[in-house]
Amino acid sequence: MVIVLGIESTAHTFGVAVVKNGKILSNVRDAYTTEKGGIIPMEAAKHHETVKSVLYEKALEEAKIKEKDIELIAFSQGPGLAPCLLQGLNFMKELAMKLKVSVVPVNHCVAHLEIGKITGAKDPVLLYASGANTQVIAYASGKYRVFGETLDIGIGNFIDTFAREAGMGFPGGPKIQELAEKAKEKDNGANYIELPYSVKGMDIALSGLLTNLKQKFKSGKYTVEDLAFSLQEMAKIMCEERGARFFVPENSLLVDNAAMIAFTGEIMFNKGIKVSGKEIEKLDILPRQRTDDVIVSWK
Ligand code: FE2
Repeated sequence: MVIVLGIESTAHTFGVAVVKNGKILSNVRDAYTTEKGGIIPMEAAKHHETVKSVLYEKALEEAKIKEKDIELIAFSQGPGLAPCLLQGLNFMKELAMKLKVSVVPVNHCVAHLEIGKITGAKDPVLLYASGANTQVIAYASGKYRVFGETLDIGIGNFIDTFAREAGMGFPGGPKIQELAEKAKEKDNGANYIELPYSVKGMDIALSGLLTNLKQKFKSGKYTVEDLAFSLQEMAKIMCEERGARFFVPENSLLVDNAAMIAFTGEIMFNKGIKVSGKEIEKLDILPRQRTDDVIVSWK
């Protein structure tokens, strides 16, 4: 049983967390946001540089531990934006050298999947929906494998593009959620608008749906609340209709966060995976590492 420090820095969020024995002792983060337009990698990296020390202090304080109590560091090695990943890598190296502890490099996407275990779900089918990715994933023969995915844009980009079109800035998800809640409060979804979902075998396509939403928004015939309500996912209802159990971790573990990195790092470490001493210096970022590149040897 070790105290693990997690570091997350793949994209807009810089996060630091402390995990011990599968329990999250702290999980703090700060996200780079923009009023309009998308993410600028160098700007996001600058943001990470500015907030890292404060977040580190905050994570230790909330976990009620001292710096010297840290026994292992888990960091997000990839995939992600190179300038952002480098901030995390350098911060990890600085701390590992100072504290003389071992390190576990964690794949960010695999961490999004592994944290699902915190719900008590055993060997689930996972819906992975982040910025550019929308995938149905399950573990099979040593790897997390993609069984179905979007054929064009990811659901996060889909939501952000519509939000930008409707003048909501970035990230669009929380604002869409807020508007959808308003529509639900108003008439319990009575104004649900039929939208053209395209499912092809195990895959889906979203660009037709996006075009349709943009047209409906521009037509002025529909309220933005009703459109927001109608575009949200129906994963829970679909599970109920098919007799499947539905698990969802709390929101702070669904967004990019360092707790999932520390949580996964601890599982890997318990199965003997670690990098120590001079080997740590050789570690590099893996901006393009795919989920199914990772050999899941800890299962
Ligand atoms: Fe992510």
